[in-house]
Amino acid sequence: MVEKTLSINLCRLMETIQMSGQIGSLDKGGLCRLALTDEDKQMRDLFVKWLKEADLAVRFDDFGNIYGRKEGTNPTAAAILIGSHLDTQPEGGRYDGILGVLSSLEVLRTLNEQPIDLERPVEIVCFTNEEGARFEPPIMGAGGLAGVFEKSFIFNCTDKDNKTFGEELERIGYKGSQKNRIDGIFSFIELHIEQGPVLECENVDIGIVTGIQGMNWLEAKVIGQADHAGPTPMSMRKDALAAASKMITEIQQIVTEQDTEATATVGRLSLIPNSINCVPGEVTFSIDIRHSDDRIRKHLHSEVLQRISTIAVIENVQIEVKEIWETDSSHFSEELIECITEQARLLGYSTKKMISGAGHDAKYINKLANTAMIFVPSAGGKSHCQEEFTEETAIEKGANLLLRIVQKLAGGDK
Ligand code: GLV
Ligand code: MN
Ligand code: MN
Repeated sequence: MVEKTLSINLCRLMETIQMSGQIGSLDKGGLCRLALTDEDKQMRDLFVKWLKEADLAVRFDDFGNIYGRKEGTNPTAAAILIGSHLDTQPEGGRYDGILGVLSSLEVLRTLNEQPIDLERPVEIVCFTNEEGARFEPPIMGAGGLAGVFEKSFIFNCTDKDNKTFGEELERIGYKGSQKNRIDGIFSFIELHIEQGPVLECENVDIGIVTGIQGMNWLEAKVIGQADHAGPTPMSMRKDALAAASKMITEIQQIVTEQDTEATATVGRLSLIPNSINCVPGEVTFSIDIRHSDDRIRKHLHSEVLQRISTIAVIENVQIEVKEIWETDSSHFSEELIECITEQARLLGYSTKKMISGAGHDAKYINKLANTAMIFVPSAGGKSHCQEEFTEETAIEKGANLLLRIVQKLAGGDK
């Protein structure tokens, strides 16, 4: 007989999150745990230890995605997959991705304590390099699994020091075999922090994610002429940074004129020679464009390209643009959205349907199987920064909802 009001152990989950928060910790409470670094390895090793302690069968695939599997009573049934990622931004928080992986572990720890026979297997997954902060593009492990990226493309991606994904995966000891990729997913559910302010502002417990915005990542290189800061008259310069700053202002203008949903972000910029008394000769900056309507996003993308080229002509500099990544918007399973809505209702949680402005592993797993996501509120809407925080009560609700959904989907709620 299954206990319908089964609850996760919040103290144990918070202790687990706190232990994760010590690996790659920064001075203001955040984390730097870039994919395939020593810190990532340390976290992976601890995670694998936890999986084994929970009696889960552990394996990792050729992209370094880690799985922990609990068998069901039906040996031929497809698995319920739950999880997210453990890598972070360079100045990331303690919850982005981590909450989804460690809550999934807590769900299985809780189920293990009960005399429950689930029909379907349940697998926890930690995907490799969701953030894309070290190796671009993001959502790489999930994208490799879903066939979005060629394996050779992933393995040859380099970081800023020219180290390849393949070398680094091998170095940290997590290059597994292709036969270990999960095959036959019944459903994938990813619990995540919202990373925006809506749930908190509207005092809602749970975001039920209906899909994820489409995105473009670009890199623009502006080539001017490096010169001496004193003797070169203003009228005779080809200042790459002066031109780039006009381009960046124009990019902001284009998206704000579009609508309130469109976003464009220049999050990275480097300049050569980067010296106080040199006219900048070369500037490279990234552009991230997002919208849930792919036609609008594509229009913004072409507007951006056209307007920065025009500025380059006016400013007498050259411009080269590299397309790093493009992904269309994703739409999650109606069936799972209904299932989450119903289970949240039974638990008495308030809910709101929403589109995710952030990318997630679920974006690509959605191509393989029925997929959906659960959001819990982010304090002040802050994420991708050290201040990222989610209240324990919110974490408890998210993890309890995940537990119920797993029971429902795996056939343990009879
Ligand atoms: C990943 O977190 C992204 O949305 O860029
Ligand atoms: Mn994330
Ligand atoms: Mn992130």
